[in-house]
Amino acid sequence: MTATTKEAIAQTLERTRARTELLTDTLDEDDLVRQHSDIMSPIVWDLAHIGNQEELWLLRDVGGREPVMHPAMDEMYDAFQHPRSVRRSLPLLSARESRVYVDEVRAKVLDVLDGTALEGRRIVTEGFAFGMIAQHEAQHDETMLATHQLRDGPSVLTAQRPPPAAIDPSTTAAERRVPSGSFTMGTSTEPWALDNERPAHSVHVPTFLIDTFPVTNEQFQRFIDDGGYDDGRWWTPDGWRHRQSAGLVAPLFWHRDGRDWARHRFGVLEPIPADEPVQHVSWFEADAYARWAGKRLPTESEWEKAARHDPVTGRSRRFPWGDDEPSIEHANLGQRYLQPAPIGSYPAGASAYGVHQMIGDVWEWTASTFGGYPGFTSWPYREYSEVFFGDSLRVLRGGAWSVDPVACRGTFRNWDLPIRRQIFSGFRLARDVVE
Ligand code: AVJ
Ligand code: FE
Repeated sequence: MTATTKEAIAQTLERTRARTELLTDTLDEDDLVRQHSDIMSPIVWDLAHIGNQEELWLLRDVGGREPVMHPAMDEMYDAFQHPRSVRRSLPLLSARESRVYVDEVRAKVLDVLDGTALEGRRIVTEGFAFGMIAQHEAQHDETMLATHQLRDGPSVLTAQRPPPAAIDPSTTAAERRVPSGSFTMGTSTEPWALDNERPAHSVHVPTFLIDTFPVTNEQFQRFIDDGGYDDGRWWTPDGWRHRQSAGLVAPLFWHRDGRDWARHRFGVLEPIPADEPVQHVSWFEADAYARWAGKRLPTESEWEKAARHDPVTGRSRRFPWGDDEPSIEHANLGQRYLQPAPIGSYPAGASAYGVHQMIGDVWEWTASTFGGYPGFTSWPYREYSEVFFGDSLRVLRGGAWSVDPVACRGTFRNWDLPIRRQIFSGFRLARDVVE
């Protein structure tokens, strides 16, 4: 989001903070300090970590202010010092202390924002550091939301259901053809783009077909019913080993309910909506489904070309629908419904090639591993992206319903291990064109 006036920056910080407060104020002290899952932090760690990152970058670095938290305590909130599974045993701030801490940091940050010219030093140009910190908070809001979903007990989060789809998906082509040619991948101009999205560079992509919509629950259930989880032919050797050792039989949070499946969603067991994009699948499951379906996952460059390239102007758009910021007509974002919307819900959000729901709804697994673009330079810190480059992580694109608009755009890159499925991950399929 290009919110580069001070007022717009303050509003964006305010919006992500409102979400953080909702995700933390709805839980009692015990729920906040508890380790709900070995793969997640206690929520109280996320909360103070949000404040600590904001303090390090905006108060101490940009503002040159005195520390609020004693610098000896910074390491406790450094994600690289302690794995998630042990954070509970650290002498963390209590829930009340964490709230006081983030509030104090925020009040001082607004003062720094007020007194800082958003030009000159690269870190503040067009408000970059403020945007980076708003994106960081939004990402932890997603992480805390995943912890809510993993926690036992009655629901504390509620939302309206998404309305029925605006168009009947069966009235439009199931696949779109993207003809061979070069396009501009990444960006050198988007003010709040992170280092891994830079620089803009030209990529040649051979002709391919991509699905108009993400794979739905109904489609995924056919893979289950067809014995897809029990047939090693569809899985990579690593994927099959993982499927066996983890005992995978269905997406995370799915439970058998007689002949049907039900899903557990924020404390409620409910029927699985047939026409919603499937979520909570690992890369291994998405990849196996693709092989069963006779297709494959798109590469990252295919995904981005289908999302951003405008064949009429030859330019890459900021978002699939154009350069305008997302509105509620374009995409399901910002934890609005607490679930994906049915396919066909966002005709106004389609890309130039007619591909729907690329932004919002579910993070989409791609075939690609995470690496730097040609000319990549780490900035402003190596630990955001560069230390994760390599063959072990897969890239996800698009931004799910769980993400704030500040932390998603056509160039935004997310990544995770191929076994991960507590994240709001789904996928769409692609295939080669035989010409
Ligand atoms: C980009 C979502 C993989 O959550 O590990 C948060 C974002 N980096 N704090 C993560 C992040 C530092 C990151 N992901
Ligand atoms: Fe973080």
